[in-house]
Amino acid sequence: MKDDTADKPWGGRFGEPTDAFVEAFTASVPFDRRLYACDIEGSVAHARMLERAGILDARECRAIVEGLEAIRAEIERGDFAWSLALEDVHMNIEARLTARIGDAGKKLHTGRSRNDQVATDLRLYLRGEIDSVRAAIAGLQSALLDTAEREADTIMPGFTHLQAAQPVTFGHHLMAWFEMLDRDRERLLDCRRRVNVLPLGAAALAGTSYPIDRAYTAELLGFEGVCTNSLDAVSDRDFVIEFLGCAALLMTHLSRIAEELILWSSAQFAFVDLPDRYCTGSSIMPQKKNPDVPELVRGKSARVIGHLVALLTLMKAQPLAYNKDNQEDKEPLFDAVDTVAGALRAFTGLLPTLRVDRERMRQAARLGYTTATDLADYLVRRGVAFRDAHEAVGRAVRFALEQGRDLSELSLEELRGFSAAIEEDVYAVLTLEGSVAARNHLGGTAPEQVRAAVRRARERLS
Ligand code: ARG
Repeated sequence: MKDDTADKPWGGRFGEPTDAFVEAFTASVPFDRRLYACDIEGSVAHARMLERAGILDARECRAIVEGLEAIRAEIERGDFAWSLALEDVHMNIEARLTARIGDAGKKLHTGRSRNDQVATDLRLYLRGEIDSVRAAIAGLQSALLDTAEREADTIMPGFTHLQAAQPVTFGHHLMAWFEMLDRDRERLLDCRRRVNVLPLGAAALAGTSYPIDRAYTAELLGFEGVCTNSLDAVSDRDFVIEFLGCAALLMTHLSRIAEELILWSSAQFAFVDLPDRYCTGSSIMPQKKNPDVPELVRGKSARVIGHLVALLTLMKAQPLAYNKDNQEDKEPLFDAVDTVAGALRAFTGLLPTLRVDRERMRQAARLGYTTATDLADYLVRRGVAFRDAHEAVGRAVRFALEQGRDLSELSLEELRGFSAAIEEDVYAVLTLEGSVAARNHLGGTAPEQVRAAVRRARERLS
């Protein structure tokens, strides 16, 4: 980046050049150049509005719009000389415009300030990123639906306290992940409504004395409304905080998924096997195959949660209106966007490649006495009070444990030793298939319900 001594657009009032360190310390162009396309889009709309309001003439407006488009092309070709002395993306582009088209370029900033400009750029940027993140979530969800449908009949232990609790279907478990992500996608849509509002027109903080038409600028930029208080428009970054809240929750969900993949791919569980191309080895232990991708997703969730806290902290003590503190909103936001995109991409690629060991899952469900609740329910249906049934089954489990046998492997005679209410038909409820099939209601784990949930979800996604 060029560190030139270009005249500052605000240089008029100053008697000496900026200290070199201060120049670098205060500049945001090394990171806010990422906003260039939004900055140009906002400026084009602003110029058109100025023309319509009679503040620019048609020739000036055309020169500005063409100049800005040419600058966009320069930036995209890598031909644009970014200058640290020009502080930020806004002044870099404006200075270049004036260099290209002359005096008309100097009129672009009429009726606006960098304060409403940067808020506009950021909202345009975030609106686009929300759309991309939502599409990426939908991509992962659709991979989940395919897997859930395939594994609708696969039985695994469901856990509470990480102890085998009751049998569930793997498809049902995957659909739980789907639901978490569906709320994330919905939250982002709701957040988008508050992002998609136009600050431009607030100028520095108090509005402007020019006869501007904010509704027209909003319409040109596809904003659903305008910010209705100029002080609020330039100062609040709650829309960034809200997005980071959504992103932190999304990453928290992805981190929980990661945690399960890590556990399940260990030799102790061995429910799934991650493909080699998604794992790495150890430089010292030749036998190792490490689940780095889910581990990194789990680890990276910490950054996004941190960025949320950073923005809340950034905001909490700022008096109205704009303060330079707000320049610190960008790097956490950009990093959150990149982190979320990376995590979603990693899981969308990984999920369809998971090798599922159905036999191993089934064995784990069987050995965990996960049908004990079904036996208790069976006794209740035969007139035993639930607490007595619980006690009888608890004793039966202890007996089976001591023998190293499953409940379904106990003879009728042995079972009747715990409750005389037990009959030959008990074996139907002691099977894993019987247990999951019995939970056949909306939200239950029965394979039939999983398939119905997948069907409903496909409709919601499309
Ligand atoms: N680079 C600044 C930011 O990111 C743009 C706004 C600067 N406004 C000002 N009054 N210095 O917030």
